Amino acid sequence: MVPFISLQLDRRSAAPLHRQLYEELRSAVLGGRLPPGARLPSTRSLSADLGVSRNTAAGAFDQLLAEGYLEGKVGSGTYVARSLPEDLLHVTEIPRGTARPVAAPLKLSERGDMLASTGRSLAQRDGAARAFRPGIPALEAFPRELWARMAARILRKSRPELLSYADPAGYRPLRQAIAEYLRAARGVRCAAGQVIVTAGSQQALDLAARVLLDPGDIAWIEDPGYMGARGALLAAGVRCAPVAVDAEGLSLADGEARAADARMAYVTPSHQYPLGVTMSLARRMALLDWARRRRAWIVEDDYDSEYRYSGRPLAALQGLDTADRVIYTGTFSKVLYPGLRLGYLVVPDRVVDAFISARALADRHGPGLEQALVAEFLAEGHFARHIRRMRALYAERQEALVSGARREFAGLLDLAPSEAGMHLVGWLPRHANDRDVSRKAADGGVSAPAVSSYALRHGARPGLLLGYACVNARQIREGLRKLAPVLDLRG
Ligand SMILES: Cc1ncc(COP(=O)(O)O)c(C=O)c1O
Repeated sequence: MVPFISLQLDRRSAAPLHRQLYEELRSAVLGGRLPPGARLPSTRSLSADLGVSRNTAAGAFDQLLAEGYLEGKVGSGTYVARSLPEDLLHVTEIPRGTARPVAAPLKLSERGDMLASTGRSLAQRDGAARAFRPGIPALEAFPRELWARMAARILRKSRPELLSYADPAGYRPLRQAIAEYLRAARGVRCAAGQVIVTAGSQQALDLAARVLLDPGDIAWIEDPGYMGARGALLAAGVRCAPVAVDAEGLSLADGEARAADARMAYVTPSHQYPLGVTMSLARRMALLDWARRRRAWIVEDDYDSEYRYSGRPLAALQGLDTADRVIYTGTFSKVLYPGLRLGYLVVPDRVVDAFISARALADRHGPGLEQALVAEFLAEGHFARHIRRMRALYAERQEALVSGARREFAGLLDLAPSEAGMHLVGWLPRHANDRDVSRKAADGGVSAPAVSSYALRHGARPGLLLGYACVNARQIREGLRKLAPVLDLRG
């Protein structure tokens, strides 16, 4: 009998014959050699034809039937499925011999499993600006026209090297501009050579964890605290010890009691995330002393220090460090826009090269055009102007949120103004379940993350994070109106 199409089986191959036959038929269907509706020979004649056992043919048919490539009943006529989606058909035929497990689950490494679960919450972020998403700047107020003009000019006028591979430490004029800015505005003690441009502070935290710690080492993290930092540490195999935050910032006493042998402390001293506390000078000195004595590292995340509305900002912790124990990181996500994915590290001279190598291995280096653009934005004074404008705008927005909330929820949501940042914490009554409230708020179209969702140990005071930077006064009013029934304050 003449074979209905040519099928080739390799008897010397390690792949079982039923698997080879399955691959051949599947490939013929996908490649269009067996069109939808085509009738297949019976397993009996096919097996005789190919010189294989009938079980072999039946096994291949069963698999194809189960996966929907074939339809009908074995024995009473088998056809190529008519309902195969058009875009599945006519794909290039799968080369012979490439055994592709089709339905078997793809097994991840243990690390892969850990990364998949640890990074899930960060990976699910959508970037829409709505009431009261914390951490998103006023995207509509970003000077896009100016940015576009500068980008076009740089692209046209710069040397072709801007398009090539570049220094993993970052574009030199940007490193210089960042160093100048940090020295003047934040009291950071650094030379341009210590600045490493990163893909946001997330990459900075990832590099710090992997370059400075070994799997199994312990790091103190603020509790409640920033889950992005915890995730970066966990991803590096580091064990995180949650440490309480009090009115002066991270509690050293709690840290020492929980994990005296920690090798790193991750802190947000300017404006603790999410509680908004500024670390006191005494606490800063004590933390530096701890790091020096223990030869431990401090990672200072200065993510939104630009937004200070009143009072004098405390200079960065890094500026007080005389023992090279502080790794400083900042970001352009809050001052420019998060989609830019540019941030920076300032590291002690002695570890600069290690960080640069690690960065090169991670993703080589940052994008040339954007780095050149930010460098010019800083050098021409636009950056300082933009910060000044946003400071005034956010102060107004914070005031709209505070006065609106006081009007709507008098006394029931405890919302105090803050000297700094882009969000406030609205405290709920002690008995409230902030996750429930937050979930209901989300159902009603309002983002208001629960304080307890940033906490690892139980007992966080219930509260909601209310970001005000990315929404105007009208959106703030609407957001509060939507929040009112969720707080169950209107009967
Ligand atoms: C505490 C903290 N650090 C850093 C960042 C910024 O991360 P990135 O620079 O990766 O955008 C955020 C943003 O949400 C944050 O809340």
